[in-house]
Amino acid sequence: MQAFKICSSLFFFFILWNHIGYARHPFRVPDPMASQVTISCQGYKTCALSSNRLRTHPLFSYHTNDIIKRIIPSGPIAYRNKPTQSVTGVELSAITQQIVSTIIKERKGIRRAKKRRSFIILRDKNFNYNTLHGLVIFKLKKHPFVIKVFMETPKTFFEFRSTGFEPPFFFYMGGGANRFLTGLTRIENRDLIEQTINQMPRWKNRIEIPRKWFWLPNESRILHLVGTNIGGHKEIETSLPSTYAIIEDAIDLKNETVNLPKRKKLHMILELCNDLNIYVDPHPNNHVFIQGATPKQFKIALVDTEHFPTMAGMFQKVHFKNHKRWYSYLAYQYVSRMFLQTKQDIVALQTAPNDLAVNIPILKNTPVAS
Ligand SMILES: Nc1ncnc2c1ncn2[C@@H]1O[C@H](COP(=O)(O)OP(=O)(O)O)[C@@H](O)[C@H]1O
Ligand SMILES: [Mg+2]
Repeated sequence: MQAFKICSSLFFFFILWNHIGYARHPFRVPDPMASQVTISCQGYKTCALSSNRLRTHPLFSYHTNDIIKRIIPSGPIAYRNKPTQSVTGVELSAITQQIVSTIIKERKGIRRAKKRRSFIILRDKNFNYNTLHGLVIFKLKKHPFVIKVFMETPKTFFEFRSTGFEPPFFFYMGGGANRFLTGLTRIENRDLIEQTINQMPRWKNRIEIPRKWFWLPNESRILHLVGTNIGGHKEIETSLPSTYAIIEDAIDLKNETVNLPKRKKLHMILELCNDLNIYVDPHPNNHVFIQGATPKQFKIALVDTEHFPTMAGMFQKVHFKNHKRWYSYLAYQYVSRMFLQTKQDIVALQTAPNDLAVNIPILKNTPVAS
């Protein structure tokens, strides 16, 4: 009797899980024309995901060559705030290599013996130490630089549920986006934001953006992505390194001004992000208000230049009145993408015009939609 109860509970759970979790009939036959992305890498088992939610951007927008174009130079790099001091790109690369080797060797153990380490872990909530994938962020103790390490394998590439709270949201909204893919937008978007801000008298002298460079390991495995029936392409492919990092100037968070009320900071952040078409995430942690020479002077440092429309699958310009509106917009986007779209809607999104693509100049944008 007990066994019967367990079996029937499992059966109903299976039916409900497919129904609620995936909006699928449990005995539905897979669609042979569905979009599919296959990922292979030497030394790993090839893995594939079949889903019409996948989109060519960001899955096929970047190639290893885009990383190589912006690789860290080998010569001296002056410290941002002390130009008389410098470190060579070769040394920063060697430190990054050492950190990556430590992650692979020690996994979660990297969090221990903090005093002995040459770095501080700033964020690892989107990194899975067991399967070694996601994003982990370090700050060096000896030099004023931050290192953001991105790792994936074919098996982990679409394992968005095992790297924290946010990645599932961005997977469904961003057409298969993960931290690894959106990390590739960080330098291109940084440059675009800098150019745009230089044309905006209001922000021109009030914003600081850390310099950023890509880093690749000495021996990099290559992920080969092949998409079929996706975004109007019968077949599309690209290749990316399975591990890469971004090395950037560290912003001293201790210099955050205490002279501005939180409400005022939030208001300014949203005004700036609205002016930038939300190309940066308006989350307050991404904006550091650095104290200037006098109590009234400050600059806003943008530490996170991930292209937000790529993460959230936004296609049209939207302005937000306050952070509450922005959060509710995201929640609505998630619910509607997840549960309120027909198969035709989902497929149509693959080729929908995108006014907020990372390579579209911000000032030349279309009218506000909200
Ligand atoms: N260049 C930097 N200088 C100082 N702190 C940084 C820098 N980059 C990131 N951080 C710290 O790490 C946190 C996470 O980095 P971020 O790039 O925003 O990652 P995520 O995309 O996960 O939000 C930031 O909120 C900030 O506290
Ligand atoms: Mg951030």
